[in-house]
Amino acid sequence: MSLNSILAYVVLLAAAFYVVVDATDPNQLQDFCIATNDPKGALFVNGFFCKNPMEAKPEDFFFSGLDVAGDTVNKVGSNVTTVSVVEFPGLNTLGISLARIDYAPHGGLNPPHTHPRATEVLTVLEGTLYVGFVTSNLPNGENRFFPKVLNKGDVFIFPQGLIHFQFNIGKYPAVALSSLSSQNPGVITIANAVFGASPPISVDVLSKAFQLDEKIVKLLQSKFHMST
Ligand SMILES: *[C@@H]1O[C@H](CO)[C@@H](O)[C@H](O)[C@H]1NC(C)=O
Repeated sequence: MSLNSILAYVVLLAAAFYVVVDATDPNQLQDFCIATNDPKGALFVNGFFCKNPMEAKPEDFFFSGLDVAGDTVNKVGSNVTTVSVVEFPGLNTLGISLARIDYAPHGGLNPPHTHPRATEVLTVLEGTLYVGFVTSNLPNGENRFFPKVLNKGDVFIFPQGLIHFQFNIGKYPAVALSSLSSQNPGVITIANAVFGASPPISVDVLSKAFQLDEKIVKLLQSKFHMST
């Protein structure tokens, strides 16, 4: 074999390998997507159906209203105005979304939560936030915490899937802009998911998992259960 044909062979092999490596399933865009043969029941195709590109208009790529603060008069003192593919169909298949987050003065909290499908970049527009995230379980059993105080103009990253929060430690309302690496990042608010699951997770399971008296578990469940 000449050097050239050996080279060609190597390039071909690399190309074939690349095709194999690249032929994975697409990332999921929702919690689950149960297959159906009935087109009437079909809602998602790992995203949404696409509008005919010839019918696209500038408005399809436009969203407005993020200048308006969300109402922070609620139990946690924060409000997330989400702009994902649901609110902004033009984001479909583009792998990105955003949110405006408002925090009440003196302790407005965006409580510990995760985004199962996105890394988040948070930019503080106004105010002072105490933020942080916790790693997944490390080999030594530790979960490392990365806290930071952020001021106007500061940026912090919450890696995909990790538990994180933001807390307003200032005496004025705070505002942040969040950018997320999925058109549908999803949110799991830890306390609500664990203590407010519907139907409730068994008290036996939660009291052992959290090493708490059953009475305390029931109290927590009463606080987070959504009355239907
Ligand atoms: C967030 O703010 C909007 C707009 O003011 C309001 O309709 C909504 O109820 C608020 N959500 C919470 C959880 O307070």
